[in-house]
Formats: sequence, C-alpha cells, structure tokens
Amino acid sequence: MARPLPEILPVPWPADQPAPPARTDEAVVRAAQLLADGGLVAIPTETVYGLAANALDADAIDRIFAAKGRPAGNPLIVHVADIAMARALTPNWPTAAERITSCLWPGPVTVIVPRSPRIPDAVTAGGPTMALRCPEHPLARRLIARLGKPLAAPSANRSMQLSPTTAGHVLDSLGNRVDLILDGGPCGRGIESTVVDCTTDPPRILRPGPIGRVELEAALGGPVLDQVTAAANDASAPVRSPGQLARHYAPKTPLELASAAAERVATLLQSGKRVAWLTAATADPQVRQLAASRDVVVVPMPADPAAFAASLYATLHAVDRRSLDAIIVDTPPDTDAWRAVADRLRRAATS
Ligand code: TXA
Ligand code: MG
Repeated sequence: MARPLPEILPVPWPADQPAPPARTDEAVVRAAQLLADGGLVAIPTETVYGLAANALDADAIDRIFAAKGRPAGNPLIVHVADIAMARALTPNWPTAAERITSCLWPGPVTVIVPRSPRIPDAVTAGGPTMALRCPEHPLARRLIARLGKPLAAPSANRSMQLSPTTAGHVLDSLGNRVDLILDGGPCGRGIESTVVDCTTDPPRILRPGPIGRVELEAALGGPVLDQVTAAANDASAPVRSPGQLARHYAPKTPLELASAAAERVATLLQSGKRVAWLTAATADPQVRQLAASRDVVVVPMPADPAAFAASLYATLHAVDRRSLDAIIVDTPPDTDAWRAVADRLRRAATS
C-alpha cells in the first residue's frame, strides 16, 4: 500500500508573543519525537522550508538524500539553536565565524567551519568542513532546542526543483517522502541563506543570499571575497561549494533574463508562444500594450530587492503551473543589493 501523504500541522506564532500558542508547542513536541525516532520533518525557516532530520543520525541523513533524490556529493547545512551549540560541534571555531555569527545570528547566513567527527560523513559529503546556520525563525530554533540536537536541513524540495516558500510547495514537491510538515506560513526572506567559507583567509562568499557583502564586511571588520564572481570569470577555478551547480532553483518552464524584455516578449508572441513576463515596470506604456495580448501574463514584481526575493519562488511556482512556453524576467540591476536575486535568476535561466 502506498504511504499516506504527510499531516500538515499549523504552527502559528504571533510576532509580539515571546512564547508560542499551546497548539504550536504541541506540534513542536510531536515533531521533536518524530526526529528523535529518525523521521523527516519539513520546517519553516525565514529563508525557505527545510527538510529536517537529526544531524547526528546517519540513517536519517540517508533518508534526506533519498527523499530529495540528491546527489551524495552535495553536502547539507546543519542547523543549530545558538552559537554555543555551533561551537560545541567544531574542533576549531575560526575567528571569522565568531565575528559573523556574533553579529548576524540568528539569521540567514551559513558559515563553513572544520567538521566535527560526530557528524556523519554523508552530511559533509565526506569533506573536511561542515556548514552551520542558526535560523532567525523562532519555530526552527525552538524545535532544535526541544530535540537537543542539531538538524540537517536542505531545502524541502526534490533535487533540481524550485525551493519551497510555503507548506503547499513542500507537499507538491515531496508528497509522501516526508513524514510531517510544519506550516508556519510563507517564508519572509524567500531565498536561501548566504553561505560564507570561514576556513579561508579572507573568508569567501560561496552562495550570495539575504545577507550581503556590506553586512558581512561590517561584521568581520575586514574584506570578504566573492567566490561566485571569481568562479564565473574562471572556468578552471575549483568548485568550493559542490551544491552550486549552474542549473539549480529552476522552474520547468524555460526562463530567460532579458534587458530588452518588451522586444523579446513581442518576438515570442509573434511566433505564437504563450509567455509570462515578470516585471516591475507595469506602468510602462509598452508593457501595458503587450499586456493586452491574451498570450501574455504580466506578473507585477516589487522594485525593492528584498521584496522581490520574498516573492520570487512563490511567483515562479505559480507561473510554472500554467504550462506556458517561456518565462521572461527583466534583467535585475547590477548592484550588491540585487546580487542574490540575480544569482538565483541566472541559475534558473541555465538550461
Ligand atoms: O536557507 C538555507 O540555507 C536553507 C534553509 C532550509 O536553511 N537550506 C538550504 O540547504 O538552502 P541546501 O541543501 O539546499 O543548500 C546547502 C548549500 C549547498 O549549496 C551546499 O553545497 C552548501 O550549502 N554546503 C553545505 N556544506 C558545505 C561545505 N562543507 N562546504 C561548502 N558548501 C557547503
Ligand atoms: Mg536547495
């Protein structure tokens, strides 16, 4: 008999309340028990939903890789309740990690540090380092504290698919491959955490995210290198973050970045294609004119980078369900504030 679909438990936690409502805490207790027994629980974080398992349980970690269809060479992020839990996991806590985490944790930044021998090989993909993050989302931290152990949690989607920013996205992508889904509503940040390698001097950004270079350099009191840009300019550069495959975070519908988007949309329409156009320029007369065609869906996007990031995956999930021929997105500005969004869009556009 097929496994049943997972239960979805709402876990509301009003921002002005220090402790969660009783039903939320009951859900946390159930989730912690499932995790202690080796199960998989999808959890809300401020970035995207995570597919969580006890990070010290090698069998549970294998289950994560199987549920996602994830290649064994792509290591997982280990989530901790606080800095003390992070320090207890590593034989050597680099100064850079101390500076970043004391300023920016809890928050959407992941530090790469020397690995603990207590962490199963599969978590680090056999490598000498591990990724640690303390989520800003209080529900995630409460669950980790309740379990008393760190949680390995990649994004809660099948490998190569879009990351989930709602409980519904998790259910659509993983179905009965997950044991329980905790529904904390839509994720506030909407894209994955910034990943910073703290084992090199200076530290390097391996994945741009909600925390930008300016905030990292302020926390460090020194420079941070941009591995992503360096690697893009040098094809022979070694891959420092094995998960950073070019095609990732992608919808099924082909996605294109266009700096002259109106012309591109017009060309596609002329050749009989049906198109979604993600643009902030909805007041532009050219956009309005093209929007009159029944073969184009104009999706208004925020002009602010943080708001754009927060709605990006949910928008792509929604547009993808319409089975159109193409998704056209205005090329974002080339500034630090847009780095993470530009990175995700470039990866989504690589076919
Ligand atoms: O915001 C996030 O980080 C979300 C939420 C759930 O916390 N998690 C997430 O996990 O995005 P995942 O597995 O989808 O991405 C983990 C990234 C990958 O790019 C992986 O290669 C990198 O972290 N990573 C993990 N361990 C690493 C290591 N030891 N060295 C370098 N990169 C590592
Ligand atoms: Mg992912």
